[in-house]
This record gives sequence, structure tokens and C-alpha cells, in this order.
Amino acid sequence: MFNEERHFTAPIRWGMVGGGRGSEIGYAHRASAARDRFFQLKAGALDLDAARGREFGSHLGIEPERCYADYQALFAGEAARADGIQAVSIATPNDMHYAISKAALEVGLHVICEKPLTFTSTEAQELVDLAKAKRKLFAVMYGYSGYPMLHQAREMIHQGKLGEIRIVTLQFAHGFHSTAIEEQSAGAKWRMNPAISGPTYVLGDLGTHTYYLMEMLTGLEVDELCCMRQSFISSRAPLEDNAHVMFKFKGGAVGTLWASSVNAGSMHQQKIRVIGEKASLEWWDEYPNQLRYEIQGQPAQILERGLGYLAQGVDGICSRIGGGHPEGFFESWANLYHRFALAIDALEREDHAFLEQLWYPDVQAGLCGVKWLEACVKSADNGAIWVKF
Ligand SMILES: NC(=O)c1ccc[n+]([C@@H]2O[C@H](COP(=O)([O-])OP(=O)(O)OC[C@H]3O[C@@H](n4cnc5c(N)ncnc54)[C@H](O)[C@@H]3O)[C@@H](O)[C@H]2O)c1
Repeated sequence: MFNEERHFTAPIRWGMVGGGRGSEIGYAHRASAARDRFFQLKAGALDLDAARGREFGSHLGIEPERCYADYQALFAGEAARADGIQAVSIATPNDMHYAISKAALEVGLHVICEKPLTFTSTEAQELVDLAKAKRKLFAVMYGYSGYPMLHQAREMIHQGKLGEIRIVTLQFAHGFHSTAIEEQSAGAKWRMNPAISGPTYVLGDLGTHTYYLMEMLTGLEVDELCCMRQSFISSRAPLEDNAHVMFKFKGGAVGTLWASSVNAGSMHQQKIRVIGEKASLEWWDEYPNQLRYEIQGQPAQILERGLGYLAQGVDGICSRIGGGHPEGFFESWANLYHRFALAIDALEREDHAFLEQLWYPDVQAGLCGVKWLEACVKSADNGAIWVKF
């Protein structure tokens, strides 16, 4: 089990762009970053509406002069201070990720950005290169990847418990947009507008998460894919509210991914099943403390978070309380923010040995997600053809 001992001298001075009052994901960033006291919220441009952002920021305890009207003012104002922010999280809708990330790197900030990282892989590659040139942390908030039982699955796969991987089945299919909810919900509306959401809706909003989990768990690399996408609510076209992807991976494994927001009656249904020649693993985000392990010819086992039989290190890196007490979404995110803080500290100390063994979802993972989306769109919009990845 790990705790919140700090191994560096002071909390990281941290800011936010987006995540204003009533936003879906702003609180998750603030709550998770604050969890281990590694980050302290000092400044922000929290809302598209400057006055509302200022007012909200003051309620979060940010000094009034550090509640800025927009991200340009935030970065300029903080760069001029001796105690200016060192890192920023970007939780705006997708259309602003690229411009704000680029501006943040250019003024020398560490960046934690929401997914999907950018609209195009050219933009994402530019951010990869800029982060490297500026020697800054650039993390992408694939928030589910902090769940301990996924780290257990990763370890088991690496240890060869499944044998050679043959098949992966991935899905993230909720039912919350089974009707035209966007007519009443601003948060749903932008997701279906290509000018703000980008070239995809459910593939980028949901599918990129599960695609990343697959990459993180298995290390499989896509060779070719074939995607079909459609809108069951026709006003959402050209963006999709449902999509199916088939994969051929390098080395011979195959797989499928289903992303949907019209899976009527479903809460989340984010599941990943990895099938090897000897055994399979299955994880479901609605029951994140459990991992199902099925060895061919034996009764199925349910592995539980926080117990001694887990792979060495899994509890030490990401369990916060003993087994039986459920952990959830906020712990997964806090695990990631914990790692971002350690990475920022190591980067600033130039501790390359530490950085090499520290895993977290980085800008390269963000780039892979955007490349994957581009390939899906290319396939789907040309009649569901197979495309080389
Ligand atoms: N990692 C996850 O699990 C997860 C979950 C939900 C959303 N997201 C991502 O987070 C991002 C935000 O999604 P959301 O659902 O919270 O959106 P939202 O519409 O609920 O909130 C967006 C917030 O950003 C503010 N904003 C918009 N443009 C801004 C700008 N230029 N400058 C400053 N503030 C600005 C808005 O005023 C609002 O407060 C999206 O990229 C989305 O894909 C990720």
C-alpha cells in the first residue's frame, strides 16, 4: 500500500485552464491533484466566461489577481511572477487542447492535457517534439489507466500468465445519449459538433480510453484496422454515436472495439478482455477492484485489489487502502496525478534513471490515440475498408 509521503520539498504550483463551475471533469482534476498534496492550485483561467471563471476561482481559494480571463493572460501573468505556476492542466473541450498545450510548453510549463489530445496527428507530433525540446512533462489524462487491477493485469500479461495473446475485445458503450440529449445539455452538444469535438465523437470521447488501456496492458501494435461508424440520431452526422473497429495486430493477434453512446440502459460498460493461448483476463470499469482470471480447464478466479497474492509492486504503487474497502475513479486519477508529480520532480532534478522506470500516460500515448482516430475515420469514411496503421 502506498501513502502520501512527499519525497520532494514543496508542492508543485499548479494552474488549470477550463474545468469551470458545472463542467463535467474539472472537479475530478482538482480533487485528484490535491489528493496527495503534491499539487497546489494557485491560478486559473477556468471558464470561457471570464467573469464566471473569476468568481468560481475565488470560491476555490485562488487569489483574485490569479483568476485570469483567458489562457494567454494566465500564462503571461504567471510567467511574470517569481512564484508563478510550474504546471497546468487543460480541461477545455477538445478544440482548444492543441493551442493551449503549445502555449503552455512555450512558456516552460509542465502540461497535463485532456484527451483526445488534438484534432490531427501533425499537431500531436508537434506537441511531442516541443515537450521534448523544452524538457517538460506532458501527460494525457487517460484517467482509467490508474486503476490498480489494470496494473495487475499488465504484470500478469508481461509474466506470460496468458501465454501468447490471440484476441482482445474492447468496449466502452454507455446509453446516456440514446435520445437527442444534446438539445438540453451543453456538455453533450459540443461533443457532437465537429468544430469543437474534432473528427469523431464516441471514438475520441470513449474509444480512445479503452484503446489506450489495450496498448498499456498488452503492448500490441495495430497493423491494420477496419472501422464502421454511424449516427443513430441522424442530426449527429457526420459524427458517430456508435462505432465498431476490427484490428489485425502485428504478430498475428486480432481484436475488436465497440464505442457507443446509444447502448440503451447501459451505465458505462467499459470492458477489456485479453485472451491468450492458456488463459484470459477480463476487467470492467464498473467493478474496478476485481480482475477476472480464467485458466482453460479450471474454475474462474476473481482477483481482488489490496491482497497479498497480487504481483509484487502492484499494491505498493497504487493501492491506497486494504482489500475489501472499495477504491474507485478518484483513486485511479489520484494515482496518475501522483505519478505526474514524481515525474515533474525527477525531470527537474534530471533523474533520468528514475524517469525511465516510471510509467504514466504521456504525450506519445496521446499521439498514438490521435493516429488511431485518424485511421478509424479513414477506414469508416471510405466504406469500412481495411487501412494500414
Ligand atoms: N479523462 C476523462 O475521463 C474525461 C471525462 C470527461 C471529459 N473529458 C475531457 O475533458 C475535456 C472537457 O470536458 P467536459 O466534459 O468537462 O466539458 P464541459 O463542457 O463540461 O466543460 C468545459 C469547461 O471548459 C471551459 N472552457 C471552454 N473553453 C475554454 C477556454 N478556451 N478557456 C478556458 N475555459 C474554457 C468551459 O467554460 C467549461 O467550464 C474534454 O476534452 C473531454 O474530452 C475527459
